[in-house]
Amino acid sequence: MAQRILVLHGPNLNLLGTREPHVYGHTTLDALNAGLVDLARSLGSSLTTFQSNHEGALVDRIQAARLDGTDFVIINAGAFTHTSVAIRDALAGVAIPFVEVHISNVYKREAFRHHSYLSDLAQGVVAGLGPLGYEAAVRFAAQHAQSA
Ligand code: DQA
Repeated sequence: MAQRILVLHGPNLNLLGTREPHVYGHTTLDALNAGLVDLARSLGSSLTTFQSNHEGALVDRIQAARLDGTDFVIINAGAFTHTSVAIRDALAGVAIPFVEVHISNVYKREAFRHHSYLSDLAQGVVAGLGPLGYEAAVRFAAQHAQSA
């Protein structure tokens, strides 16, 4: 059965590839997304992506996921990870299982990045593996959905 995975990217992730490449690498968001779509397809699932720099737009997209058949969410909320009760409440409100991804190892960085409003609700958290972290999350999502 095809499973629907939604990948959400928060603020500044549209700059991937050019933004602080020593931290976030050289892969662009378009290339990352294309690879994830292909990977999901190879696993018998479907995957859509959404990026916004706006907290409310991310909240709206999470709320829409309750109605559009999304089985699993993969989210890198960027800086909103560390600030947004609204995104936390949206994820709790739709009650769709999710994995939190960070490209960098946030625990090796500034103290304000060590707290996440999302982690205790997440099925899992991946940090510091670069784009591979998203791939691991897609594999997990595909398996999770199949066994659900
Ligand atoms: C990030 C880590 C956050 O602290 C930062 O604000 C980001 C990206 C990551 O993927 O490593 O925008 O979520």
